[in-house]
Amino acid sequence: MFYPDELIEEIRYQNDIVEVISQYVRLNKKGSSHFGLCPFHNEKTPSFSVAQDKQIYHCFGCGAGGNVITFVMEYENYSFVEAIKVLADRVNISLPEPEISEEMRKMVQYKQQLYDANKEAAKYFYHQTSAPLGKKAYDYLNDRGIGDETRKKFGLGFSHFFRDDLYQYLTSKGYSDAVLRDSGLVLEDKNKPGELYDRFFNRVMFPIFDIHNRVIGFGGRVLGDGMPKYLNSPETKLFDKSKNLYGLNIARTSRRNNMILVEGYMDVISLHQAGFDNTVASLGTAFTKGQSNLIKRYTSELIIAYDSDNAGVNAILKAIPILEASDISVRVLKMLPYKDPDDFIKGEGPERFEEIIAASIPSFMFEVEQLEAKYNLSDPDHKTKFYQGIARKLVELENEIKRDSYFEAMINRYNMNPKALNSEMEKIGKDVGIVSHKREDASSSEGKIKNRFSKDSIVVAQKNILTFIVSHKDIFEAVRPYIKPSEFVDGLYRQVAEIIFELYEENLEINPAMIINKFVELDQQNNVAQVFNNDVKVENGMQFEKMVNESVQILKNAYIDKMSGQVTEVNDLQELIKVKRELQDLYISLNHG
Ligand code: UTP
Ligand code: MN
Repeated sequence: MFYPDELIEEIRYQNDIVEVISQYVRLNKKGSSHFGLCPFHNEKTPSFSVAQDKQIYHCFGCGAGGNVITFVMEYENYSFVEAIKVLADRVNISLPEPEISEEMRKMVQYKQQLYDANKEAAKYFYHQTSAPLGKKAYDYLNDRGIGDETRKKFGLGFSHFFRDDLYQYLTSKGYSDAVLRDSGLVLEDKNKPGELYDRFFNRVMFPIFDIHNRVIGFGGRVLGDGMPKYLNSPETKLFDKSKNLYGLNIARTSRRNNMILVEGYMDVISLHQAGFDNTVASLGTAFTKGQSNLIKRYTSELIIAYDSDNAGVNAILKAIPILEASDISVRVLKMLPYKDPDDFIKGEGPERFEEIIAASIPSFMFEVEQLEAKYNLSDPDHKTKFYQGIARKLVELENEIKRDSYFEAMINRYNMNPKALNSEMEKIGKDVGIVSHKREDASSSEGKIKNRFSKDSIVVAQKNILTFIVSHKDIFEAVRPYIKPSEFVDGLYRQVAEIIFELYEENLEINPAMIINKFVELDQQNNVAQVFNNDVKVENGMQFEKMVNESVQILKNAYIDKMSGQVTEVNDLQELIKVKRELQDLYISLNHG
């Protein structure tokens, strides 16, 4: 639902934040701000402040913050549109019917049909499990320890062996062939053009939900042995595997403060049934950045419980850097001799699972252990290589406190000589050139490059760019060739950038309120509101151009620095150093009269 920018702005402008919040919270003026008890957390001394000049609020206690619109959303638990309606009403502005182009309306309707067809199919499959023909699926699930309640919660079902019963059923409900094809539920017979038949038959069906509990695809398992073990929906307009996690629709509301990442459908289901409702699965595919961003919306602590085999270990080693790039701290679970969490729960039960969660190890330790396994430590050459590997990993740690504690841990665990480890780290730090490496010689010239821009200035640069491009399409066009969303080093800014780029890609009119709305959770909406509560004061076009360029420089430098801490190949590093050098000559001209 898209109201014009100007209208949203008018509504926000006319609703003075102090007046609105005073309806809910008793505020006292102190200096230029108003203070009160925060309505979003329990407190006895006021840490909630409202700035009338900036028209924003912020709580120093719990971090809540935003503008008048987000306040109403948060306080009343309203959606963006609901909050706009209330605020418009308050100042007697009448809202027009939301502007939606004909094309957009059609697209939305078509997608809705796809959702509906999927939902119908899921219901159909589910009902088969209580019909006589579906008894074997019911028994299969039962034998695997899945109770009725869990079967219902996950909507598990059965597609029986008729060739096109689902197709016939959905056709009778009025769905067109085009919709059914696009849903991925039916296929065309190669030998008989135009004849459609069901993709899934004789399989136990696992509907895949998005975070809004809409069915976007299916996995179907053979009853017993057979190939493929699981058949999945193809990519469709609704289903993009790389941006979805199985079980997240439930896990997102879990009261636990971390999440568990597993490989398969059955792992999720078993763990949820055993009380671990914070479990999600990447569904056998390689873990992606999109999935990592998704997790970051809900938690910053993840425990990986992939299968205990080699494939699982390798998948963990690949997932760790992706997760850490989203600022998620990762631990790894050990389940041996069990193959996967489903097996473990069957064999040992939930209490023991709780114990192995408590005994899970930090990703750093896991990586070092895997490194260790490659070497024979009674061979001095191997031992040297292993130790050098440790030194390299320590240098890569960005956080100094973290680096210090792992330094300690490594020395103790592997009986290393601290001096030797230290000088090896210094050597690597120097080779690497742009990685800041401090331990004793924090002032060495190489160590300094990284700190040319403070963390604050990097945050400001990212905020500025987002604020510029969201409100000026011409600036977006001007900077687009030079920056990518992935270059925003902070997870939230990266997500906002991705959304802005996507919206422009779809040629939509955009405004900050729309972007806020793309985030489901209120705390994220607050953070995003905070991004755009960034009033940049510029005098003229020249100054503006300078500011854009400075921000782009800072952004790209920060990204290169971050990457340089992650690469392991010397060639890659040299490439980064080159890119960094070239960056000095980059200048974006804005033609701003
Ligand atoms: P696994 O082979 O580990 O299966 O694949 P599993 O989860 O232990 O399955 P059960 O317990 O035998 O039923 C892990 C995940 O990889 C995907 C599925 O998402 C599966 O849950 N997968 C696996 C496929 O998509 N297709 C396959 O043929 C196999
Ligand atoms: Mn399994």
